[in-house]
Amino acid sequence: MSNPKKYRLPAGFSLLQTAIRSGTFLKDPIKAVVKNMTLFSGTYTASLGLNRKIIITQNPDLINYILKENHKNYNKSAIAKSASRFMGNGILFSNGNFWLKQRRMIQPAFHKEKLQELQSIMIKTIAKYLTAFPAGDRVDVYPLVHGLSFNVLLKSIFNIPLPPEIITEISEIFSDIQEFLIRDTNQPLSRLFYPLTGAKNVSLKKANRLREIIRGIIDQRKTENKENCDLLDMLLSCTDENTGEKMSEEQVIDEVLILIFAGHETTANTLSWLLYLLACNQEVLEQLIASFAGKNIGDCMSNEYLKATIHEGMRLYPAAWMTERVAVEDDQIGDFSFPAKTIIIPFFFGLHRDKNIWDDPLAFKPQRFINDPKLARSKYFFPFGAGPRMCIGNNFAMVEMCFFLYTFLKEFQIRPSGQVPAMKALITLRPDKVVLTIQKKSL
Ligand code: HEM
Repeated sequence: MSNPKKYRLPAGFSLLQTAIRSGTFLKDPIKAVVKNMTLFSGTYTASLGLNRKIIITQNPDLINYILKENHKNYNKSAIAKSASRFMGNGILFSNGNFWLKQRRMIQPAFHKEKLQELQSIMIKTIAKYLTAFPAGDRVDVYPLVHGLSFNVLLKSIFNIPLPPEIITEISEIFSDIQEFLIRDTNQPLSRLFYPLTGAKNVSLKKANRLREIIRGIIDQRKTENKENCDLLDMLLSCTDENTGEKMSEEQVIDEVLILIFAGHETTANTLSWLLYLLACNQEVLEQLIASFAGKNIGDCMSNEYLKATIHEGMRLYPAAWMTERVAVEDDQIGDFSFPAKTIIIPFFFGLHRDKNIWDDPLAFKPQRFINDPKLARSKYFFPFGAGPRMCIGNNFAMVEMCFFLYTFLKEFQIRPSGQVPAMKALITLRPDKVVLTIQKKSL
């Protein structure tokens, strides 16, 4: 075991202090971490026992160092490993050479030119979904937007007519497994009761059912032998550039599961927060709608104000409010040094609202990204992470969100209802609900 005295860890909490604070943390993680950040000037250490430390930081230099400059020394941690028991060994959870091989194979499918093939699927799915979008004085848009982004993603992966009951089953299994994972991580003691409650086995069975559904779709595809121009076609055909080998069928299933896991809730949350922010900031909404004048949906990706609006929404409410890494070997940066196995949590939410970095940090001002176009790529802004493990679906998500806002805001008028969404910082940062007044525009 390493000698803790030889490291210069950031100040923070002992094991006992960490344990005492764990209840407050679990109740409202964002509030607790924001408070600690003020106490410890942006970086602090908590103790996990057995000399295991966890460093939580919103320091941009430290975050950059971990995710980019010395990324080779940082793996996804045990939290990711625990999720992979259910979601398989796709790129979100894997590490090392295996991760690199998979990432290289899959990356081309998400290049901008390739995404053009998916654009018509997205446009059609959004238009169809919005025909049944309800208007009213108090509409909770969160489940509706969640359903929409789930449908867009499923249709982009499987461009085939899936029976509605299968779509619902896939969606329910994902929510159930996600809920289980949150409980498993936040209440480790509940693991003691798994043999009695059977909770883990139930989730494993559900995960197997998901695999069975995807396997069925792949089997059908093999017999049909036609092009579907979707992400599944791409995963089935991509090859390792060194060996020319394709992925095994089980690995394709792992990667499909990861795309659904990583891609649907993140986009749904971002869009829901954006609708709330726009409803409460009518002057921004008007400017955004004015930016659509004379343009069609295909022009969305060159609409700078639209992209700035999305960036500003992700600054205030980053769906990935934090991530996690574990040090492979001892490391040091600036005044700090820490042993191998230290867990590092980049706290994006705190960095995105840091008053030392952002002018008027709590205000929703898309214009800041227009005034300073470099901001979106700066070391202060990490909505999609950074470095080699940056979100593979970032272009996909930006296109989908641009298409959705363009189509939705042309058809519907939104106003605040007075409800203020509460932040639920689980695996992603979601609102409890987003209740808005929605009126269909007369076109
Ligand atoms: C607004 C929407 C999205 C947000 C905010 C978001 C955010 C992120 C972030 C912050 C990471 C990096 C995590 C880390 O460094 O630990 C990430 C990774 C990832 N995202 Fe996204 N994401 C979004 C949409 C999507 C979509 C639509 C897909 C797939 C279609 C996707 C697939 C992935 C995958 C597979 C990874 C893992 C990449 C790797 O480790 O190599 N994401 N995402």
